[in-house]
Amino acid sequence: MPVLDLSPDELLTTTRSLRRRLDCSRPVEPEVIRQCLEIALQAPTGGNRQGWHFVVVTNAEKRRSLGDLYRRGFDIYRNLPSTAGKLFANDPHRAAIQQRVMDSAEYLAAHMHEVPVHVIPCINGRFEGLPIMQQAGLWGSILPATWSFMLAARARGLGSTWTTIHLFFEQEAAELLAIPYTEVTQAALIPVAYTKGLNFTPAAREPLQSKLHWDGW
Ligand SMILES: Cc1cc2nc3c(=O)[nH]c(=O)nc-3n(C[C@H](O)[C@H](O)[C@H](O)COP(=O)(O)O)c2cc1C
Repeated sequence: MPVLDLSPDELLTTTRSLRRRLDCSRPVEPEVIRQCLEIALQAPTGGNRQGWHFVVVTNAEKRRSLGDLYRRGFDIYRNLPSTAGKLFANDPHRAAIQQRVMDSAEYLAAHMHEVPVHVIPCINGRFEGLPIMQQAGLWGSILPATWSFMLAARARGLGSTWTTIHLFFEQEAAELLAIPYTEVTQAALIPVAYTKGLNFTPAAREPLQSKLHWDGW
């Protein structure tokens, strides 16, 4: 599978959350998904336990059901008092950016079932009631691999978005996909498709200076 000519820094700074620019009409070869997952397996895990699993969903009926779950979750999310669309009410510039993110997220919700590949990264274990140390160990053993997968996908002309909204109904998704819910936690749902165009740019971020705490907070 051809890999784009991107420097490591370009790859790291231009892997965006893609929604409207996912080309849902173009099929994705199973082999390219396998390649990206092989790369993801090079990520670290706590104690090298490698308790990860990746459920790849291409079956149209199952994607439709996941899309329905996602939309039900989005209906809840949209109405939460803390939801992104209501954030930054006192900062018109940031409020406008958040509104664009929400519009884009609404678009993805409406089209989720059309995205040709859904990847659900999972980790052995449940988090309920665990101390922070163990929670950090478990999340930290699946999230780096998930991001590696998304970077590897971008390098091959594929786009994706990290999503978590289907987790409002994690158990229903587990039943749909025969994931052993009592033993395994789903971390995300990553819709994947080839992109419309290949040029993406770094995003505006709050300045490092406001986030950096050197030798103490
Ligand atoms: C933990 C996490 C959960 C997210 N959940 C969702 C989601 O459920 N739906 C969605 O459309 N985007 C989701 N996003 C994507 C963010 O909205 C996105 O990263 C943000 O808009 C910034 O865009 P950028 O990644 O292109 O800079 C999530 C991102 C992260 C890291």
